[in-house]
Amino acid sequence: MTRGYTFLLTSLAFLLASSAVAADTLDGETLFRERTCFTCHGPDAKSPILPEFPKLAGQNAPYMLRQMRDIKSGARANGNTAAMRGVLHLVTDEEMQVLVQYLSQLASFSAKDPESP
Ligand code: HEC
Repeated sequence: MTRGYTFLLTSLAFLLASSAVAADTLDGETLFRERTCFTCHGPDAKSPILPEFPKLAGQNAPYMLRQMRDIKSGARANGNTAAMRGVLHLVTDEEMQVLVQYLSQLASFSAKDPESP
């Protein structure tokens, strides 16, 4: 009984500590790294690991926010959505807003990028 209680308190303390860290690091570049986004979308957000995965750099912020919310809720669901939905439990709505602002301001993958199709 006491042991269970101690475990509960320790978990609570850990949760509080980690949410404090999250609040401190609420900048898009850090979140993009810490929430593992770069592993699929590429460190520059325009070199995805698979050709079927989207480039994000320079995309419209409101569009990306809508897509992330829809993927998280299940409203958007296609053959590739599961990969993306798997990480969204790590990301709050506030963090999504910071992330899409950061991504929309990166140099676009379109027009000027010679590697873009
Ligand atoms: C495990 C691989 C993976 C990780 C990690 C990942 N994504 Fe994705 N992401 C995808 C895939 C695949 C899609 C396309 C999903 C679909 O087709 O429905 C996608 C779609 C998106 C879209 C919508 C793009 C569009 O053009 O509609 C955004 C925005 C996005 N991801 C941002 C992020 C952010 C921010 C993170 C980090 C919190 C992240 N992703 C982490 C694989 C991943």
